[in-house]
Amino acid sequence: MSALLENYARAPVTFVRGEGCELYDDAGRAYLDCIGGIAVCALGHAHPAIADAVAEQARTLVHVSNLYHHEPAGTLARELTARGGFARAFFCNSGTEANEAAIKLARKRAFRRGESARTTILACTGSFHGRTYGALAATANDAYKQGFGPMPDGFAFVPFNDVAALEAAIDERTAAFVVEPVQGESGVHPAERAFLQRAREVCDERGALLIFDEIQCGMGRLGPLFAFEAFGVRPDAVTMAKALANGLPIGAVLVAAHAADALQPGDHGSTFGGSPIPAAAALAHLRVRDTLGLEEHTARMGAYLARRLQTIAEAHPHLTAAPRAMGLLAALPLREPLAAAACAAALREHGVLVGTAGGNALRFAPPLVIDEAQIDRAIDALAAVLALRQAQGDTEGLRVTQGGSG
Ligand SMILES: Cc1ncc(COP(=O)(O)O)c(C=O)c1O
Repeated sequence: MSALLENYARAPVTFVRGEGCELYDDAGRAYLDCIGGIAVCALGHAHPAIADAVAEQARTLVHVSNLYHHEPAGTLARELTARGGFARAFFCNSGTEANEAAIKLARKRAFRRGESARTTILACTGSFHGRTYGALAATANDAYKQGFGPMPDGFAFVPFNDVAALEAAIDERTAAFVVEPVQGESGVHPAERAFLQRAREVCDERGALLIFDEIQCGMGRLGPLFAFEAFGVRPDAVTMAKALANGLPIGAVLVAAHAADALQPGDHGSTFGGSPIPAAAALAHLRVRDTLGLEEHTARMGAYLARRLQTIAEAHPHLTAAPRAMGLLAALPLREPLAAAACAAALREHGVLVGTAGGNALRFAPPLVIDEAQIDRAIDALAAVLALRQAQGDTEGLRVTQGGSG
């Protein structure tokens, strides 16, 4: 019996090693990883440049806290802000913490400007921003909140991609509008460019901060380093985590100059935030990205994956609905009673790992280095799983192969 709390429905497989897009279990079996640790391992598993950076940093300096400066975090802050056109960075350890920091920054900024009634954090229906209380309060789906109430006050929601509702919702009490350029957890729903453009205008007109949560869709997943570049809309702050250090725990908030003085000494902090090893890994990630031409590769592979998923959807109209994709983030919605978790488990039996996302969809967030032959392998396995269901004329059988909780 596992000694771990049962808050995850872990699949009954134990991984011992990874290389590139492959993971290997304790029986030596290889799996093609099309979920990449949930949009984390952008360069693939055990990338030698990341491993070297981590090892070198571990031999040099592991921890000093944020009482002092250290080179990896300083350099990473300079690199990220320069690449994104921001002024300053705050580092933490995860995505939810990055959003907590952004929420606190937005409220403190208003407070410092003498606008103490400007406290509302406006988010979107379908949003997912994390599991700690502030980020959870900004998360739309009530299922994540059930039994954890009361939630913090001062959070409101506007329908995703509804420009008129957004115009009506942002007012002099709005500290920030927080939005994922592509909603990941709710099933890969891209924002419409016009929605983000109007958000930019209305936030400017009414004095609210525009914050993009790029934790899942940033760090090259859509092609460019930042998701906002793919939409041509510049936020006042962007939150990052997941792929930033290609698997080591780090989160970041990058902030534009006009909001960067909102947090002053003592206002916010984290013992481990931006500590030397994850910061060194994130720097190595940026350097490797630069040498690989990943922006173009991601666009090409993303288009290829989207095309192949479309073909699958057309071949199995009774089991699937139209796929949604942007860059190398894609979802294939499944029709009931075919359950996404059961389909993912069946794919795992075929040696392919995918995730699931809201609305009964399979989610694909593979390493950005995936190639066409690997996408073909994943799609062939998916075709085999779906063809079996179609041939059997029922979709119930898949349910029994669903993974246990480890
Ligand atoms: C858009 C988005 N924001 C925030 C988070 C929370 O990140 P973490 O799990 O690192 O706290 C996630 C995680 O899935 C996410 O997809």
